Amino acid sequence: MTTDEQRTREDELVQLVVDSFDGTPDPRLREIMQSAVRHLHGFLRDVRLTEEEWSQGIDFLTAVGHLTDDRRQEFILLSDTLGASMQTIAINNEAHGDATEATVFGPFFVDDAPEVPLGGDIAGGAAGQPCWVEGTVRDTEGRPVAGARLEVWEADDDGFYDVQYDDDRTAGRAHLFSDDDGGFRFWAITPTPYPIPDDGPVGAMLAATGRSPMRASHLHFMVTAAHLRTLVTHIFVRGDELLDSDSVFGVKESLVKDFVEQPAGTPTPDGRDLGDAAWSRVGFDIVLAPA
Ligand SMILES: [Fe+2]
Repeated sequence: MTTDEQRTREDELVQLVVDSFDGTPDPRLREIMQSAVRHLHGFLRDVRLTEEEWSQGIDFLTAVGHLTDDRRQEFILLSDTLGASMQTIAINNEAHGDATEATVFGPFFVDDAPEVPLGGDIAGGAAGQPCWVEGTVRDTEGRPVAGARLEVWEADDDGFYDVQYDDDRTAGRAHLFSDDDGGFRFWAITPTPYPIPDDGPVGAMLAATGRSPMRASHLHFMVTAAHLRTLVTHIFVRGDELLDSDSVFGVKESLVKDFVEQPAGTPTPDGRDLGDAAWSRVGFDIVLAPA
């Protein structure tokens, strides 16, 4: 138990640090810094952090920083695995009518993914079962959104995104635009589960706490259109065993879709000849909230 005198000393330090931000010209920055200080000190006092533990924490964050570069974003993984990404998304994407729910952005988006035409293949050679994806983009009034930009990206059958290979390949990612009726369609690969990169400090944190690095199978979308709220989301595969234990807390029931298996020989929607390969198809109708 801490004595009254000890508690007073600790309280005084918190107040001293909070007050040091009183002169911050930007009121929002002042609010953020003072709240961050209160919560940080609250945490330190709550667990009575030892100096050795504090030092371990500094070492951990240092390792997260050292591993991060323009292809590996360990800070996003840390935010994701602590649920901070999903909480920020929840705060900033308030429910609006039947607008499609948002979920985590993740660390594997890349600017300048190639464009494919409607009906094109985003796989770009990525290994996996072909999957036909189709749907519409509408606003919350039900009006079709023509020319919406859809960025889609996913891991291959081995559980890796293209950027995790060291050969500069581009695969399993592309962008396309909805047609005049808001419709879109493309070939991808049926999503499969994969572990988040767990060879760094975030992986060590998951191992030390007995948590799995596995993510439920998913296909990423980012949908942008003028005057509408940008949607960052995924669709998940109904029946996936990992839906209840996703390592980044990204699963929403409304985003779980039926990826319907099509036996080998089933005619494809666009006449593509898949030989003797089975394939799957999924529908995803997207509703964008007002900006
Ligand atoms: Fe992902």
